[in-house]
Amino acid sequence: MSNKNDSIILELKNVTKRFGNLVAVNDVSLSLEQGKLATFLGPSGCGKTTLLRAISGFSEPDEGEIVLDGQAITGIPPNDRDTAMVFQNYALFPHMTVAQNIGFGLRVRKKPKREIDAEIERLLDLVQMEGLGNRKPHELSGGQQQRVALARALSLHPKILLLDEPLSNLDANLRISMREEVRKLQRRLELTIVFVTHDQEEAMSISDVLVVMDHGIVKQIGAPTEVYEYPIDEFVANFIGHVNFFAGEVVDILGNEMTFQISQGKLKLEMPPFQVSVGDKLKAVVRPESIAVVRAEAELTDMDNVLTGRVEQAMYIGSVMRFTITVGDQTVYVDESDPQYRGIFAEGQEVKLILKKRIHMLTN
Ligand SMILES: Nc1ncnc2c1ncn2[C@@H]1O[C@H](COP(=O)(O)OP(=O)(O)OP(=O)(O)O)[C@@H](O)[C@H]1O
Ligand SMILES: [Mg+2]
Repeated sequence: MSNKNDSIILELKNVTKRFGNLVAVNDVSLSLEQGKLATFLGPSGCGKTTLLRAISGFSEPDEGEIVLDGQAITGIPPNDRDTAMVFQNYALFPHMTVAQNIGFGLRVRKKPKREIDAEIERLLDLVQMEGLGNRKPHELSGGQQQRVALARALSLHPKILLLDEPLSNLDANLRISMREEVRKLQRRLELTIVFVTHDQEEAMSISDVLVVMDHGIVKQIGAPTEVYEYPIDEFVANFIGHVNFFAGEVVDILGNEMTFQISQGKLKLEMPPFQVSVGDKLKAVVRPESIAVVRAEAELTDMDNVLTGRVEQAMYIGSVMRFTITVGDQTVYVDESDPQYRGIFAEGQEVKLILKKRIHMLTN
């Protein structure tokens, strides 16, 4: 997503799709650069599949235009678009072998048999399924079926590959290794991919660009770190990872620093990158890993942004310890990646929390 028009492969211009009274996709505009992996991310029913189907031609938008590689493709049937789609349930043909599945599109396009056979071999190799061409889909694991679906989609050399929750049927470990494979293949072949998921961790880890959707609307477009660190509103902040909000008021401004009054105390913060005045009500967005916890007895005189609280719960979640801490009238989540080093706090223990000076602020 940049201004360099020559590298833009896909453009959506004010795309709207309705089902009766329901606006499934609402005036969506975006552009996608060639060779990038963009992910549509959002809760169930937000319009991800509908948008993908509009790009692939399986359904037509009611309004707006879709431009692929400089050509308006709205109205062109799916088979005549340079797109390939892998569906949510990856839909292999059960009666066909792996090789027949992969070669299907090429046979439909009446390619010579020798060419098709060579292409099947190349694709089997590409997705690490050498020697399995004669199997039927039911003789494959979920991950292998997924690879076949991917190979079949790649057989037509699409300008853009559309993957609708391609990993959702796989167990957790396979899901992670398959997403790494998809990403490697995408980078190696410089494929342009639109990937759909409602799994925020998957989206964060695989994408060049995140497109966060809600109720048919695009909420925010950006690199994963940008969306994580600077979510545009509470919905995006909540949807991408865990977050604490501190609502408050600007009560003083001095140079590049403001005093932000929250119900639990006063914070001294860097000025946000937008105009603020005394009296403005804002919301501070603080990720659980951006707060430090120390013992209540720790000497922190002269230190700003220290709040006091009481540990309600301490819980291991994967690689971090998550503390649930009551601070005044609010529950605050703090993640500690190395509790052995920093100290494990018991439930019921009084603690101090230290917040940074640079905090992302929301105006709404
Ligand atoms: N053919 C249809 N007829 C009527 N309503 C539809 C149709 N297809 C989708 N919808 C509705 O449009 C909205 C968007 O659906 P869509 O399938 O795009 O969501 P999604 O983001 O892909 O969700 P999920 O994550 O569950 O797959 C939903 O409210 C859905 O019920
Ligand atoms: Mg869907």
